[in-house]
Amino acid sequence: KHDVLTTIVVFGASGDLAKKKTYPALFHLYQQGLLPRRTRILGYARTQMEHDQFASRITSFFKRDQTTQSAIDGFLSLCGYVSGKYDVDDDFVRLREEIDRQEHAMHKRAEDERVHIYYLALPPSVFVSVGTQIRTNVYDGSCTNRVVIEKPFGHDLDSSRKLSKDIGALYAEDEIYRIDHYLGKEMVKNILALRFANVFYEAVWNRHYISNVQITFKEPFGTEGRGGYFDEFGIIRDVMQNHLLQVLSIVAMHQPQSLRSEDIRDRKTEVLRRILPIQLEDTLLGQYVGTKDASKPGYKDDDTVPKDSITPTFAQCVLHVDNDRWRGVPWVIKAGKALDEAKMVIRIQFKDMPNALFPSLARNELVLQVSPKEAVYIKTIVKEPGLSTNLAMSELDLSYHKRYQDIKIPDAYATLILDVLNGDHSNFVRSDELDEAWRIFTPLLHQIDRDQVIPLPYEYGSRGPKGVDEFATERAGYKLTAR
Ligand code: BG6
Repeated sequence: KHDVLTTIVVFGASGDLAKKKTYPALFHLYQQGLLPRRTRILGYARTQMEHDQFASRITSFFKRDQTTQSAIDGFLSLCGYVSGKYDVDDDFVRLREEIDRQEHAMHKRAEDERVHIYYLALPPSVFVSVGTQIRTNVYDGSCTNRVVIEKPFGHDLDSSRKLSKDIGALYAEDEIYRIDHYLGKEMVKNILALRFANVFYEAVWNRHYISNVQITFKEPFGTEGRGGYFDEFGIIRDVMQNHLLQVLSIVAMHQPQSLRSEDIRDRKTEVLRRILPIQLEDTLLGQYVGTKDASKPGYKDDDTVPKDSITPTFAQCVLHVDNDRWRGVPWVIKAGKALDEAKMVIRIQFKDMPNALFPSLARNELVLQVSPKEAVYIKTIVKEPGLSTNLAMSELDLSYHKRYQDIKIPDAYATLILDVLNGDHSNFVRSDELDEAWRIFTPLLHQIDRDQVIPLPYEYGSRGPKGVDEFATERAGYKLTAR
């Protein structure tokens, strides 16, 4: 793919997402020599900016200790900026002219394979209008066009369907790349390899051996600074309906026929179809309050959050996958802001050992740690070393920072943008998958709104609301395993 004449347009180039994620990821690919030989990156946003000002903005999140000024300069020589409004035809026409000029400068030839990537690092309110502008004034039917969009994709099933329909009227599904950045994380991408390249996992990957699965997302900070945005969505829409459910679908799906993206996405969609809508009785909601010593603020102490907000910042739900492989196995997904640690883990807990030879000390668990430090470990019982004949719980431990010291794990955005460059949809959400994800959560979300369900308070920095651990034990039969 190195010869494809490539133009990437980053809309919302002056915004936070572009600055923190998109440009650093593009720079990472540039440094690794993974951008096609002839590439131009054009930023587009409303702010009027001189090149220097734009350059210092987009490089502000580059890790200086891992790069050199000449690498940054080299990257900047590929970058340009066009300022324009999001609803003015002439501005998009100017953008189109700039793309033509840049392609010309890259010595475009008639036989060249060309790609235009439109990356919408924009709020959802302008998705459709910008999508329409691009389609009418910029889109080039003589080359491959790819449109990258970021969540939120609607706020419930109906609004998501409306958005899919509007975007679908402008672009074909295979031109659309819906980002769920969790799909670009190393350990999430690893699930497929782990499950289908090893003989022993698949053999026990079912209700006969697995007791329950826990997928947990914890952040040690609150929504300070983005409370206004968060309050419209809440934790279920912010991370569960997308990130956690995506991970769940890869853990739960059947083996795809091949590694082609449509085969993988078919399998994910198929298993999502078997998930029953979540019930309010199977859900625990929380909202954080300030610490007793007032050193950390409560959710509602944020000026941008309404004083009577009942938006959950924590949720824990039990899901059921109603197919032969999983019937009877509870899946607990849990996500919260302002908790005691930063962690994302997938914990697969196996059943008790059915024999009486050894008293069951604890259960085996396969743990995939997505963050902060990538690791795969299996809780395994061994004989306590030495003269003792006691049993001890230990681990088969594959911690990436020990095993793969020399490999720098890339940011999820770098792998995802590389996928877009390669035209690979595997790690992007297809519209039918998205539809299923909303089907699972929408009745619950609507009931919470309709009944004005009050979340339970929990203190900033704690493990969550009262009852969180009991919930996992009582509702999902989770047994705590001593380390
Ligand atoms: C985003 C959510 O999608 O994911 C944020 O909107 C959350 O609320 C973030 O903090 C977590 O991503 P990561 O990569 O930091 O785990």
